[in-house]
Amino acid sequence: MIFVDACFGKPTPYTPVWMMRQAGRYLPEYMEVRAKAGNFLNLCHNPELACEVTLQPVDRLGVDAAILFSDILVVPNEMGMKLDFVKGEGPVFEDPIISQADIDALVGGEEAANKLVYVYETIKLIKERLSHDKALIGFTGAPWTLATYMIEGQGTKTYNICKKMMYSNPELLHAILAKVTEVVKFYMEKQIQAGIDVVQIFDSWAAAIEPSKYDEFSWKYMIEIADYLKAKYPHIPIIIFPKGVPAFLDQVYGNFDVFGVDWSTPMALAKEKLGSRYVLQGNMEPCRLYSQEATKECVESLANTMKEGRHIFNLGHGILPDVPVENAQYFVKLCQEVSKR
Ligand code: CP3
Repeated sequence: MIFVDACFGKPTPYTPVWMMRQAGRYLPEYMEVRAKAGNFLNLCHNPELACEVTLQPVDRLGVDAAILFSDILVVPNEMGMKLDFVKGEGPVFEDPIISQADIDALVGGEEAANKLVYVYETIKLIKERLSHDKALIGFTGAPWTLATYMIEGQGTKTYNICKKMMYSNPELLHAILAKVTEVVKFYMEKQIQAGIDVVQIFDSWAAAIEPSKYDEFSWKYMIEIADYLKAKYPHIPIIIFPKGVPAFLDQVYGNFDVFGVDWSTPMALAKEKLGSRYVLQGNMEPCRLYSQEATKECVESLANTMKEGRHIFNLGHGILPDVPVENAQYFVKLCQEVSKR
């Protein structure tokens, strides 16, 4: 598989490409299936329909990898937190975690991971139907990013509840992070056993932590997960995507394969700091997809910066719902063309 080879830094006929959030609302066929499912969570819980929407961007765009259709928040949901996706507001947990008793009440470890059977069923269906030259990416949220929702109860601009805990009761925050980390280890192991080819860990809210605290509250937990998986499944590449951490690049360490570069970090800087140790993924600013000209300028510049480097094309965060499908197609084709060797 070109994608897996590229993750391990092996030479490939061209640089592979996929897009974060490639299965989603910018595709009319996604909206049709979501309507059939009734709502977003039903769609995540239905392996047949989740498989269908996973494959849609592969058929439409010709990306080199599919990403499992699910959500990072199914993990805290199966640990016992009631989850709703409220129209216009995004995800909401009714009873956020505020005490050690709340943490103790959560389902942990393998027991929680076993409740995510619908994810493993979806993976098996996708692997039956996905073309053998395309990779299937499984994923999880980073413990920190998951904890932000578990503590705040919803998305936040300030992260003040989490950060109050970080600075005034760090032991409690670590207890949450440790419990989530245990579940995620089993969850990713079971995704691998079900058939995924690559793991990506999304630390979407990394930038909320000041650089001197980032290792303690997020990075080390992701590396603990990577170490656990690498010891057992060294043939499965691991991608870590911490969004918005240019100030942390000098401190990056650990046994994983691909560093996902977000759009706020110049690719040349990431290459200088990390390019000899990790394959780099990314990092077009997703809003460039509104303009084919802006897309072309960025893809050519990335190809030029990474021409002797080890690279996977992607956006620097998820695609937005109002991007024209033909522009997404244009991006994928162009990445594959400009990097032909
Ligand atoms: O194509 C893919 O990338 C696979 C599917 C996927 C979804 N969510 C589907 C989804 C993946 C990998 C995720 C990860 C995810 N979920 C992250 C990390 C990635 C990132 O973008 O930073 C985060 C932070 C979440 C939490 C989440 N889920 C939020 C904040 C929201 C609401 C905001 C929004 O975009 O609407 C969701 C809902 C969600 N997850 C949708 C999709 C397609 C939209 C739901 C819908 O159909 O209405």
